[in-house]
Amino acid sequence: MIAKTEEDFNGLKEIGKICGEIRDELVHCTKPGITTKELDEIAGEIFEKTGAQSAPKGEYDFPGYTCISINEEVAHGIPGERTIQEGDLVNIDVSGSKNGYFADTGISFVVGKGEIILRKICDVAKEAFDAGLEQAKPGSKKSALGKAVQNVAKKHGLTVIKNLTGHGVGRSIHEAPDHIFNYFSRWDDEILKDGMVIAFEPFISTFEEEVFQSEDGWTFLTDESFVAQYEHTIILTKEGPIITTL
Ligand code: CO
Ligand code: CO
Repeated sequence: MIAKTEEDFNGLKEIGKICGEIRDELVHCTKPGITTKELDEIAGEIFEKTGAQSAPKGEYDFPGYTCISINEEVAHGIPGERTIQEGDLVNIDVSGSKNGYFADTGISFVVGKGEIILRKICDVAKEAFDAGLEQAKPGSKKSALGKAVQNVAKKHGLTVIKNLTGHGVGRSIHEAPDHIFNYFSRWDDEILKDGMVIAFEPFISTFEEEVFQSEDGWTFLTDESFVAQYEHTIILTKEGPIITTL
């Protein structure tokens, strides 16, 4: 969407804050021994308490309030009986709506100390987000974000996932612009607009560049790579980007 009115900005900020709160609470509660279902129930309680709705549940009939993906799972993991272990790479992705406004945010992190490479891809996903954010201004090319992400990955000897992308958000969970790529796409000449609301989400991989869908119909997997994501909802303005999900 293009945010124009004060009501738009306030509505986007309100749901952004709720999704950010849920993300942080779930990260805080992710300890060895807890199941992903138990984590997801905490999210369900906060959605209820704040009068917000889970987007995956409400829009796509996803079997959970949030997407929780572990190790070989990259995204859209279904919360269930899987128990968190020390050293796991965990991704928590929270999207929701309130009063017709939507937000989407996600983070990958390692439980406890974990392997160096896992911590590295998480750090690089955040670095790639920050690099892309610098290009996120009205009047700039949308492809500048992907270029920044790809450059950061390359610098660290890592790759990006090419078939998962960021997207427009605001009045629904996925809307125009449909794809914010994690790489430089020459034919993508779309120009970012003042007030445009995007979910920007770099996916940094150890070496593979594509994910595939599991037989459960939801979860995206890799064969052997590990992948980290870092996502926020951003309103682009001439005065600078507003991150609603901090
Ligand atoms: Co997300
Ligand atoms: Co998203």
